[in-house]
Amino acid sequence: MAKEVKLEIEKLPGVGAATAEKLLTAGYDTLLSIAVASPGEIVEAAGVSETAARKMIIAARDMLDMGFESGLDYLKKRQNIFKIKTPSENFNQLLGGGLEAGAITEAFGPYGSGKTQIGHTLAVMLQKHQEGAIVVYIDTENTFRPERIRQIAEANGLDPEKVLEHIKVAKAYNSDHQMLLAEKVEDLITKEKLPVKLLIVDSLTAHFRAEFVGRGTLAERQQKLNKHMHTLLKIADVHNVVVYVTNQVMAKPDVFFGDPTEAIGGNIVAHNSTFRIYLRKGRKDTRVAKLVDSPSLPDNETVFRITEKGIEDAI
Ligand code: GTP
Ligand code: MG
Repeated sequence: MAKEVKLEIEKLPGVGAATAEKLLTAGYDTLLSIAVASPGEIVEAAGVSETAARKMIIAARDMLDMGFESGLDYLKKRQNIFKIKTPSENFNQLLGGGLEAGAITEAFGPYGSGKTQIGHTLAVMLQKHQEGAIVVYIDTENTFRPERIRQIAEANGLDPEKVLEHIKVAKAYNSDHQMLLAEKVEDLITKEKLPVKLLIVDSLTAHFRAEFVGRGTLAERQQKLNKHMHTLLKIADVHNVVVYVTNQVMAKPDVFFGDPTEAIGGNIVAHNSTFRIYLRKGRKDTRVAKLVDSPSLPDNETVFRITEKGIEDAI
């Protein structure tokens, strides 16, 4: 198997046995993985010049005959896209029926607004949609709680042990580690053939926010976040995965009217997220979810509660 793969990659211009080996070691084991890589990534992986990397990528694309899809192919692809439903029908409807595969859904809001609770709920509910599918949970704030998963699973009539077995939790200790873990998810799918269908990054921005402080570091932070978002988007798109990320808000010091908070990460995170949900606390134990700037759905608001089932409609 590995030999065949190597031979396929060796057909690319400028790729001899040694380069092929380096590419394989770095996880570029299919023509597709090279075709969708950036020149910088190939340079890093194979130690070739940027021009050589570009040639490889273009050749891989030609060999795969990719780039343009007919409307019909596109429609077929869209039909494969599935949605994960939560126990809150209102919340699902806000998103057009659930959290969509092939896209990034970002939840942003203040402390305690329910971002992590939604993540836990999704990690359980994936099993309802597709038994045996795998969740990857990148935990940056040490807030993953298996006990809570157990409770949500039981309340939704699922075997908690089975649910827990299908969640792969990885703690990210800093932003570089977080980026690396996201890249490793591709390996889980392509090399280990794991049916990863949900990827959660909770929180997407906390490490970046903590590590890059001060004006001088903003450009570097945004550049790294951008790269990270592209990794996530690629996983979503190429492998038909639901990607759910959480994001904090910060106070805007100069706003006196309207909403005094804004999401971390600015345009980079906002533009790369397909669906963005703004969460805030409502009356009593309720939470308000608002969909913002969606290309295909109306800006709308709904109310849910955090319960033993995870999240449910507010009554
Ligand atoms: P930060 O990560 O701090 O920014 O907040 P967050 O948006 O992730 O908030 P999170 O999802 O952790 O929501 C916390 C709230 O969920 C708590 O204030 C509780 O009201 C509720 N909650 C947490 N655990 C449980 C639970 O086991 N059962 C129920 N019913 N509610 C819970
Ligand atoms: Mg949280």
